Amino acid sequence: MQLHLLPTSLALLAVSHRALASPAVSTITRTATSPPVPTSTSFTSDSAFETAMLAAHNFYRKEHNASALTWNSTSAKYAASWAGNCVFKHSGGPTGENLAAGYTNASQGVDAWGLERESYDWAKPGFSEATGHFTQVVWRNTTSVGCGRTACEGRDDTPGFYVVCEYYPPGNVVGDGNRFFVDNVWRQVEGRDTDTVESGVTSFARGWGS
Ligand SMILES: *[C@@H]1O[C@H](CO)[C@@H](O)[C@H](O)[C@H]1NC(C)=O
Ligand SMILES: *[C@@H]1O[C@H](CO)[C@@H](O)[C@H](O)[C@H]1NC(C)=O
Ligand SMILES: *[C@@H]1O[C@H](CO)[C@@H](O)[C@H](O)[C@H]1NC(C)=O
Ligand SMILES: *[C@@H]1O[C@H](CO)[C@@H](O)[C@H](O)[C@H]1NC(C)=O
Repeated sequence: MQLHLLPTSLALLAVSHRALASPAVSTITRTATSPPVPTSTSFTSDSAFETAMLAAHNFYRKEHNASALTWNSTSAKYAASWAGNCVFKHSGGPTGENLAAGYTNASQGVDAWGLERESYDWAKPGFSEATGHFTQVVWRNTTSVGCGRTACEGRDDTPGFYVVCEYYPPGNVVGDGNRFFVDNVWRQVEGRDTDTVESGVTSFARGWGS
């Protein structure tokens, strides 16, 4: 049963710095305790973390005809520093930013972001809280990403590993009749909307509520 593979607790949020129309709202969902999971190498090793984060992002970008992101070490340092505070809200920096916490391994959080595409309204392209992580992940004008993580384990109510990613140039640019969303967020040119990297998160809808 897939639900058993889902994270015991998680939190997600994506609002671009420039998405001024929408206030940042964070959602933290917890479920009853479950057996502890071993700490994934994708969190504990810097190189495994970078590889997993890049691969997961580029998996979704390829399906939406966006070029592969490169690792931006300036952004990664900034992200690591922000993650170190264990404060689950946006840093207010100049880059696009996605946050996740409570996942079992690095790929899982990106899969949860990517699977928001199941909810994207292709007939009405634009920003929404429910799909903002996805639109940033596949935003065509973004060329680099740098991510950091910290084992917050409940510090300041941030569960498990807290992952922060910074995107440059930033996506989720609003305004001008959502022209930027039309230009930057492409429909899938290959694969299905339920495709995932390998994380055990199988569906946005079943993965977590709301
Ligand atoms: C992907 O985008 C490029 C332009 O960046 C375009 O030439 C190509 O046709 C697109 N591929 C598909 C399958 O739409
Ligand atoms: C890396 O990201 C920073 C912002 O964090 C940006 O100023 C810089 O230009 C980026 N470098 C590259 C090569 O994209
Ligand atoms: C796309 O990126 C360039 C920098 O590479 C930036 O100057 C431009 O404002 C960006 N456009 C959008 C729509 O984000
Ligand atoms: C991530 O965790 C899930 C669920 O425990 C597992 O199925 C998957 O193989 C893991 N992926 C990686 C890259 O560790």
